[in-house]
Amino acid sequence: MYGLINKAVRGLVFDQFGEDAWRRIRLAAGVTDDDFIAMDDYDDTITYALVQAASSELSLEPEQVLQAFGEYWVDYVADENYGHLMQTAGQTFPEFLSNLDQMHARVKLTFPNLQPPSFSVTDETDDSLHLHYFSSRAGLAPLVVGLLHGLGRRFETEVEVESGREGEGSNAHDVFYVKYRRIAGQT
Ligand code: HEM
Repeated sequence: MYGLINKAVRGLVFDQFGEDAWRRIRLAAGVTDDDFIAMDDYDDTITYALVQAASSELSLEPEQVLQAFGEYWVDYVADENYGHLMQTAGQTFPEFLSNLDQMHARVKLTFPNLQPPSFSVTDETDDSLHLHYFSSRAGLAPLVVGLLHGLGRRFETEVEVESGREGEGSNAHDVFYVKYRRIAGQT
């Protein structure tokens, strides 16, 4: 994955646990450089090793690390010059979720080797939807749960998420059953 992802993992650890925690985690993951180059393509194994090392060093489950990372990512990309891409993807929580593939397609203009996930929304009501998640990578469903909570915060919307699996064979994929409610008193 692009270095931008690993940079954000570093940012999360640095902000929430400090420089020393970051040093221990990157060394445990076998990463010698202190930082990453956002636009360089890194092997996915580095990202997975960082998550594993963060899990051991911080005594958290890998799923908790991924979820925290997802929540962090939403603010991180908005602050790291990709705010305009986030803006154009939608003004409400459900609108944004319907536009995720278009948003990553725009990201791909800047990151040509991007291997983005794909999402689709079904079963929409006024306060719920199903978000289907297709990825070439394994084990990242907890990341999406964190992303959904991060987006909820962005759109001042309370979000409840349950996870499941749907489809058979090559169509088997994670699904998130999402209930949401705009927080009263906000416009
Ligand atoms: C403008 C904001 C965003 C940028 C610049 C961005 C960029 C990226 C990049 C660089 C990757 C790594 C993939 C690769 O290098 O091949 C990635 C992966 C991913 N992105 Fe985004 N992204 C953004 C917003 C979001 C949002 C809001 C979601 C919410 C659902 C999301 C969901 C994911 C997921 C789940 C992955 C993991 C890869 C996978 O599932 O295979 N991204 N994104």
